Amino acid sequence: MAVLKIRKFGDLILKEKCIQIANIDYELEELVKNMAKTMYEAPGIGLAASQVGVLKQLFICDIGDGLQVYVNPKILAIEGEDTDEEGCLSVPGINVPVKRAKKIKVVALNMNKKKVAFVADNLLLARAIQHEIDHLHGIIILDRTDSENRRRALSELNENAKRN
Ligand code: NI
Repeated sequence: MAVLKIRKFGDLILKEKCIQIANIDYELEELVKNMAKTMYEAPGIGLAASQVGVLKQLFICDIGDGLQVYVNPKILAIEGEDTDEEGCLSVPGINVPVKRAKKIKVVALNMNKKKVAFVADNLLLARAIQHEIDHLHGIIILDRTDSENRRRALSELNENAKRN
């Protein structure tokens, strides 16, 4: 297992759309293992394949109750609204308020090639899934927050870059 390089804000790959996965094979299993190691070491609660430079519709998350793997995920329905601070491993040190649905119905394949559809009504899980699916469409938290918070975050990122 290897810790992969997490792509950071400014890397254009984060704006790319990911493609559907046709084969759940050994190579994908290895990618998932490496992504899990990378996420836990960061540490974070979610990681999309595009964040490690792989433009495939895959993400993992663990909100504290074990690793979940989503292949070709899709949101089928949404309900309610909830605004909360959100961070991202690709935008280190930054938290911005992001409005999300409270509850979502999601469908995805698991690593056993089984289609799984369920309602995520845990606020944190629903938020994490929406955040990661955004990554698969080239969208990050700075695209989802209001202009004032985006400005503040961008200047913070600038300051951090100068310091490093
Ligand atoms: Ni993220």
